[in-house]
Amino acid sequence: METLIGEGKTKQVFSYEDNLVLLKFKDSITAGDGARLDILSGKGVLNAQTSALFFRLLERNNIKTHYVGMFDDRTMIARKLKMIPVEVVLRNIATGSIVKRLPIKEGEVFNPPIIEFFLKDDSRHDPMLNYSHLEYFKLMSRKDAEEIESIMLKANEVMKDAVSKAGLVLYDFKLEFGKNEKNELIVGDEISLDSMRVREPNTNRILDKDLYRKGADLNTVKSAYEEFLSRIEKVI
Ligand code: C5P
Repeated sequence: METLIGEGKTKQVFSYEDNLVLLKFKDSITAGDGARLDILSGKGVLNAQTSALFFRLLERNNIKTHYVGMFDDRTMIARKLKMIPVEVVLRNIATGSIVKRLPIKEGEVFNPPIIEFFLKDDSRHDPMLNYSHLEYFKLMSRKDAEEIESIMLKANEVMKDAVSKAGLVLYDFKLEFGKNEKNELIVGDEISLDSMRVREPNTNRILDKDLYRKGADLNTVKSAYEEFLSRIEKVI
Protein backbone atom coordinates (compact mmCIF):
# COMPACT_ATOMS: atom_id res chain seq x y z
CA MET A 1 0.00 0.00 0.00
CA GLU A 2 1.42 3.40 -0.97
CA THR A 3 1.56 5.99 1.81
CA LEU A 4 1.36 9.75 1.35
CA ILE A 5 4.75 11.15 2.39
CA GLY A 6 4.51 14.69 1.09
CA GLU A 7 2.18 17.16 -0.55
CA GLY A 8 2.75 20.44 -2.34
CA LYS A 9 0.43 22.87 -4.09
CA THR A 10 0.13 20.74 -7.23
CA LYS A 11 1.48 17.27 -6.42
CA GLN A 12 1.30 14.49 -3.87
CA VAL A 13 4.25 12.22 -3.14
CA PHE A 14 3.68 8.58 -2.14
CA SER A 15 6.20 6.02 -1.01
CA TYR A 16 6.56 3.19 -3.50
CA GLU A 17 9.16 0.49 -4.00
CA ASP A 18 12.74 0.73 -2.78
CA ASN A 19 14.30 4.07 -3.74
CA LEU A 20 11.21 5.04 -5.75
CA VAL A 21 8.29 7.37 -5.13
CA LEU A 22 5.00 8.09 -6.89
CA LEU A 23 4.30 11.69 -7.89
CA LYS A 24 0.58 12.28 -8.37
CA PHE A 25 -0.22 15.47 -10.29
CA LYS A 26 -3.31 17.23 -8.87
CA ASP A 27 -5.82 19.32 -10.83
CA SER A 28 -5.01 22.44 -8.80
CA ILE A 29 -3.54 25.55 -10.39
CA THR A 30 -2.08 28.27 -8.19
CA ALA A 31 -0.51 31.70 -8.54
CA GLY A 32 0.91 34.43 -6.32
CA ASP A 33 2.81 31.96 -4.08
CA GLY A 34 -0.41 30.08 -3.40
CA ALA A 35 -2.58 33.18 -2.87
CA ARG A 36 -4.85 32.11 -5.76
CA LEU A 37 -5.98 28.54 -6.23
CA ASP A 38 -8.40 26.95 -8.66
CA ILE A 39 -9.26 23.44 -9.72
CA LEU A 40 -8.82 22.81 -13.42
CA SER A 41 -10.23 19.40 -14.12
CA GLY A 42 -7.81 17.28 -16.18
CA LYS A 43 -4.82 19.56 -15.58
CA GLY A 44 -2.99 16.94 -13.49
CA VAL A 45 -3.05 14.49 -16.39
CA LEU A 46 -1.86 17.18 -18.84
CA ASN A 47 1.07 18.23 -16.62
CA ALA A 48 2.05 14.64 -15.83
CA GLN A 49 2.08 13.76 -19.54
CA THR A 50 3.94 16.95 -20.54
CA SER A 51 6.50 16.38 -17.78
CA ALA A 52 7.03 12.76 -18.83
CA LEU A 53 7.77 13.84 -22.40
CA PHE A 54 10.34 16.44 -21.28
CA PHE A 55 11.98 14.08 -18.77
CA ARG A 56 12.33 11.43 -21.48
CA LEU A 57 13.78 14.07 -23.80
CA LEU A 58 16.39 15.05 -21.20
CA GLU A 59 17.23 11.41 -20.44
CA ARG A 60 17.78 10.72 -24.16
CA ASN A 61 20.23 13.60 -24.13
CA ASN A 62 22.18 12.23 -21.17
CA ILE A 63 20.75 14.57 -18.55
CA LYS A 64 19.95 12.63 -15.40
CA THR A 65 16.38 12.97 -14.13
CA HIS A 66 14.23 11.25 -11.53
CA TYR A 67 11.87 9.92 -14.20
CA VAL A 68 11.33 6.15 -14.26
CA GLY A 69 7.95 5.71 -15.95
CA MET A 70 4.21 6.24 -15.50
CA PHE A 71 2.11 4.49 -12.84
CA ASP A 72 -1.14 5.83 -14.31
CA ASP A 73 -2.02 8.80 -16.52
CA ARG A 74 -1.49 11.39 -13.76
CA THR A 75 1.07 9.56 -11.61
CA MET A 76 4.78 9.33 -12.33
CA ILE A 77 7.18 6.74 -10.92
CA ALA A 78 10.31 8.62 -9.89
CA ARG A 79 13.60 7.91 -8.20
CA LYS A 80 13.66 9.05 -4.60
CA LEU A 81 15.90 12.10 -4.19
CA LYS A 82 16.94 14.39 -1.37
CA MET A 83 15.46 17.54 -2.86
CA ILE A 84 17.25 20.88 -2.63
CA PRO A 85 14.63 23.56 -1.80
CA VAL A 86 15.83 25.86 -4.57
CA GLU A 87 14.24 26.80 -7.89
CA VAL A 88 16.66 27.29 -10.75
CA VAL A 89 15.42 29.50 -13.57
CA LEU A 90 16.95 29.90 -17.03
CA ARG A 91 15.84 32.82 -19.17
CA ASN A 92 16.25 33.13 -22.94
CA ILE A 93 13.92 36.10 -23.31
CA ALA A 94 12.99 38.65 -20.66
CA THR A 95 9.53 38.53 -19.11
CA GLY A 96 8.04 37.88 -15.68
CA SER A 97 9.84 38.72 -12.47
CA ILE A 98 13.12 39.86 -14.05
CA VAL A 99 11.53 42.83 -15.82
CA LYS A 100 10.03 43.93 -12.50
CA ARG A 101 13.25 43.52 -10.50
CA LEU A 102 15.79 44.95 -12.93
CA PRO A 103 15.94 47.65 -15.59
CA ILE A 104 15.35 45.14 -18.39
CA LYS A 105 12.69 45.49 -21.06
CA GLU A 106 10.09 42.83 -21.82
CA GLY A 107 11.27 40.79 -24.81
CA GLU A 108 15.01 41.49 -24.45
CA VAL A 109 17.00 38.47 -25.66
CA PHE A 110 19.65 36.98 -23.35
CA ASN A 111 22.59 35.43 -25.13
CA PRO A 112 24.00 33.67 -23.19
CA PRO A 113 20.89 32.89 -21.15
CA ILE A 114 20.54 34.25 -17.61
CA ILE A 115 20.38 31.69 -14.80
CA GLU A 116 18.97 32.57 -11.36
CA PHE A 117 18.54 30.66 -8.08
CA PHE A 118 15.56 31.22 -5.78
CA LEU A 119 14.83 29.88 -2.30
CA LYS A 120 11.56 27.92 -2.16
CA ASP A 121 9.79 29.99 0.49
CA ASP A 122 6.28 31.20 -0.37
CA SER A 123 6.05 33.34 2.78
CA ARG A 124 9.04 35.35 1.53
CA HIS A 125 7.99 35.19 -2.14
CA ASP A 126 10.93 32.96 -3.13
CA PRO A 127 13.87 35.36 -2.66
CA MET A 128 16.78 35.22 -5.11
CA LEU A 129 20.02 33.62 -3.91
CA ASN A 130 23.63 34.02 -4.99
CA TYR A 131 26.48 31.53 -4.48
CA SER A 132 27.24 32.96 -1.02
CA HIS A 133 23.65 32.49 0.11
CA LEU A 134 23.54 28.96 -1.31
CA GLU A 135 26.67 28.09 0.68
CA TYR A 136 25.60 29.98 3.83
CA PHE A 137 22.27 28.11 4.00
CA LYS A 138 24.11 24.84 3.18
CA LEU A 139 21.81 24.38 0.19
CA MET A 140 24.66 23.52 -2.15
CA SER A 141 28.35 24.09 -2.71
CA ARG A 142 29.65 26.51 -5.32
CA LYS A 143 30.77 23.49 -7.34
CA ASP A 144 27.22 22.06 -7.26
CA ALA A 145 25.83 25.46 -8.30
CA GLU A 146 28.22 25.53 -11.26
CA GLU A 147 27.30 21.99 -12.23
CA ILE A 148 23.61 22.90 -12.04
CA GLU A 149 24.25 25.88 -14.32
CA SER A 150 25.86 23.66 -16.89
CA ILE A 151 22.93 21.16 -16.69
CA MET A 152 20.51 24.10 -17.12
CA LEU A 153 22.33 25.23 -20.28
CA LYS A 154 22.32 21.73 -21.74
CA ALA A 155 18.63 21.23 -20.86
CA ASN A 156 17.89 24.58 -22.48
CA GLU A 157 19.43 23.50 -25.78
CA VAL A 158 17.30 20.36 -26.06
CA MET A 159 14.11 21.91 -24.67
CA LYS A 160 14.43 25.04 -26.85
CA ASP A 161 14.92 22.84 -29.89
CA ALA A 162 11.85 20.68 -29.12
CA VAL A 163 9.67 23.72 -28.40
CA SER A 164 10.85 25.33 -31.62
CA LYS A 165 10.01 22.17 -33.61
CA ALA A 166 6.50 22.55 -32.18
CA GLY A 167 6.45 26.04 -33.72
CA LEU A 168 6.83 27.86 -30.39
CA VAL A 169 9.43 29.86 -28.48
CA LEU A 170 10.81 28.87 -25.06
CA TYR A 171 11.10 32.10 -23.06
CA ASP A 172 12.20 30.61 -19.74
CA PHE A 173 11.86 27.58 -17.49
CA LYS A 174 12.46 26.42 -13.94
CA LEU A 175 14.00 23.16 -12.80
CA GLU A 176 14.48 21.69 -9.35
CA PHE A 177 17.32 19.41 -8.38
CA GLY A 178 17.91 16.70 -5.83
CA LYS A 179 20.67 14.30 -4.94
CA ASN A 180 20.56 10.52 -5.21
CA GLU A 181 22.29 8.04 -2.89
CA LYS A 182 25.51 8.47 -4.94
CA ASN A 183 25.35 12.22 -4.24
CA GLU A 184 24.77 13.00 -7.93
CA LEU A 185 22.70 16.03 -8.96
CA ILE A 186 19.47 14.88 -10.61
CA VAL A 187 16.63 16.88 -12.18
CA GLY A 188 13.44 16.30 -10.17
CA ASP A 189 9.97 17.80 -9.73
CA GLU A 190 8.12 18.55 -12.98
CA ILE A 191 8.65 20.16 -16.38
CA SER A 192 5.31 21.50 -17.49
CA LEU A 193 3.53 24.68 -18.55
CA ASP A 194 3.39 25.57 -14.84
CA SER A 195 7.18 25.82 -14.86
CA MET A 196 8.06 27.17 -18.32
CA ARG A 197 6.95 29.98 -20.57
CA VAL A 198 6.20 29.28 -24.21
CA ARG A 199 4.80 31.69 -26.74
CA GLU A 200 3.88 31.65 -30.38
CA PRO A 201 6.34 33.60 -32.53
CA ASN A 202 5.07 36.83 -34.17
CA THR A 203 1.70 36.87 -32.39
CA ASN A 204 3.29 36.37 -28.94
CA ARG A 205 0.25 34.29 -27.97
CA ILE A 206 0.83 32.83 -24.51
CA LEU A 207 0.32 29.09 -24.00
CA ASP A 208 1.58 28.69 -20.41
CA LYS A 209 0.56 29.46 -16.82
CA ASP A 210 0.94 33.21 -17.49
CA LEU A 211 -2.61 32.91 -18.92
CA TYR A 212 -3.83 32.00 -15.42
CA ARG A 213 -1.51 34.51 -13.72
CA LYS A 214 -2.96 37.24 -15.94
CA GLY A 215 -6.56 36.22 -15.18
CA ALA A 216 -7.66 34.29 -18.30
CA ASP A 217 -10.68 32.06 -17.80
CA LEU A 218 -9.99 28.44 -16.88
CA ASN A 219 -11.22 27.03 -20.20
CA THR A 220 -8.66 29.14 -22.08
CA VAL A 221 -5.91 27.89 -19.76
CA LYS A 222 -6.95 24.27 -20.21
CA SER A 223 -7.15 24.46 -23.99
CA ALA A 224 -3.67 26.05 -24.16
CA TYR A 225 -2.26 23.21 -22.01
CA GLU A 226 -3.99 20.65 -24.27
CA GLU A 227 -2.74 22.35 -27.42
CA PHE A 228 0.84 22.47 -26.15
CA LEU A 229 0.83 18.78 -25.22
CA SER A 230 -0.57 17.77 -28.60
CA ARG A 231 1.98 19.95 -30.44
CA ILE A 232 4.94 18.77 -28.34
CA GLU A 233 4.09 15.05 -28.41
CA LYS A 234 4.42 15.11 -32.20
CA VAL A 235 8.01 16.37 -32.04
CA ILE A 236 9.57 14.90 -28.87
O1 C5P B 1 8.22 34.57 -12.19
P1 C5P B 1 9.51 34.37 -12.91
O2 C5P B 1 9.68 35.28 -14.11
O3 C5P B 1 10.71 34.45 -11.98
O4 C5P B 1 9.47 32.87 -13.47
C1 C5P B 1 10.51 32.33 -14.25
C2 C5P B 1 10.13 30.92 -14.69
O5 C5P B 1 10.08 30.06 -13.57
C3 C5P B 1 8.76 30.82 -15.36
O6 C5P B 1 8.80 29.86 -16.40
C4 C5P B 1 7.84 30.37 -14.25
O7 C5P B 1 6.76 29.60 -14.73
C5 C5P B 1 8.78 29.49 -13.43
N1 C5P B 1 8.45 29.51 -12.01
C6 C5P B 1 8.06 28.34 -11.38
N2 C5P B 1 7.76 28.34 -10.06
C7 C5P B 1 7.85 29.47 -9.32
C8 C5P B 1 8.25 30.67 -9.93
C9 C5P B 1 8.55 30.66 -11.28
O8 C5P B 1 7.99 27.29 -12.04
N3 C5P B 1 7.56 29.43 -8.03
